[in-house]
Amino acid sequence: MWLLSALVPLLRLYLCGIRVLLYQMFNRSFEMPVLPKQNGRVAIVTGGTRGMGFETARRLASLGMHVIIAGNETEEGAAAVRRINEECSKGKAEFIFVDLTSLKSVRQFVQMFRDRGLPLHVLINNAGVMLVPERRTDDGFEFHFCLNYLSHFLLTNLLLDLLKESGRQGRSSRIVNMASATHYAGEVNLEDLNKRTVYSSHAAYSQSKLALVLFTYYLQEQLTAGGFAVTVNAVDPGMVDTALYDNLWTLARMMKKPVANILFRTPAEGASVSVYAAAASEMEGVGGCYLYNGRKTQSSDLSYDTELQAKLWKKSCKLVGLQGF
Ligand SMILES: NC(=O)c1ccc[n+]([C@@H]2O[C@H](COP(=O)([O-])OP(=O)(O)OC[C@H]3O[C@@H](n4cnc5c(N)ncnc54)[C@H](OP(=O)(O)O)[C@@H]3O)[C@@H](O)[C@H]2O)c1
Ligand SMILES: *[C@@H]1O[C@H](CO)[C@@H](O)[C@H](O)[C@H]1NC(C)=O
Repeated sequence: MWLLSALVPLLRLYLCGIRVLLYQMFNRSFEMPVLPKQNGRVAIVTGGTRGMGFETARRLASLGMHVIIAGNETEEGAAAVRRINEECSKGKAEFIFVDLTSLKSVRQFVQMFRDRGLPLHVLINNAGVMLVPERRTDDGFEFHFCLNYLSHFLLTNLLLDLLKESGRQGRSSRIVNMASATHYAGEVNLEDLNKRTVYSSHAAYSQSKLALVLFTYYLQEQLTAGGFAVTVNAVDPGMVDTALYDNLWTLARMMKKPVANILFRTPAEGASVSVYAAAASEMEGVGGCYLYNGRKTQSSDLSYDTELQAKLWKKSCKLVGLQGF
């Protein structure tokens, strides 16, 4: 029983990976359209210190945005900010600490950001971990669930009023959720979101990414109903050569290396889908999409289950201590 519960999600996740690699074998990364200048706009990028988050922050700053990198490594954060500010004269980067494994830290981050008195036009929920061994956060949440999904759920909700105030018709504020093809393998078990019954790191990662897609669609419905100039999309970067794969088993890691050299995208290529969602004119006013390789793509059947979306939203509000929408 245990073996099956651990093996099935593992196989499903690796199958997702193989499908993506086959696609990448025959398709180049999409071509980015010319992006409009973003002077005067402010963005937050979680996990902007390295990997795709860094490339996203750097690209947005080069378009003239004021970019706040949110991360839990202060020194790495300072180095990332220095690099970006040396490179672009137009944009501006700064670092604010957040540890996404702590809801308290998320609240403190929001307070620190608010104290700056800045508007907010773009929120990129990018940070994530993959396949960490069974672990709980101080609040008692499963690690992937909290870091990849729940903290971003809270962060987004706490910043939503600022995003609404900063958006205009024709110049919407934009939220971008970093999903993954592994969401196709995902299931959300509302009775056991923290995976206490049987732990599979593969199921935990897939669940966190499916949760992000469900959250994206539900939030867009609310924003549209309220007539707000805010859009939210989920993006899928393909398979990208970053430190995310550090937790693979040794054998898988050894096999990954030569494959990654040939078939994985670079962090800058992977980041392009986030940048596209955050800045392209083509995406103005467009929300509720799952974007893959620069195109709107069908996400998993489960992700369109409106009842599941609503239930997950309600449950998430409860877990983070928020009143409904
Ligand atoms: N690589 C892929 O093939 C792939 C495919 C699909 C989706 N994704 C998604 O893309 C996103 C970016 O991943 P990546 O591939 O660029 O990996 P990465 O290089 O490992 O970047 C992960 C980022 O998350 C941040 N982070 C980790 N723990 C944190 C914490 N406790 N608090 C705050 N920030 C934390 C890290 O910041 P610090 O350095 O400050 O800890 C880092 O900047 C993730 O959500 C991932 O699931 C990746
Ligand atoms: C940041 O978070 C990751 C877990 O996501 C952890 O491994 C790392 O030690 C943390 N860094 C610091 C400085 O606490």
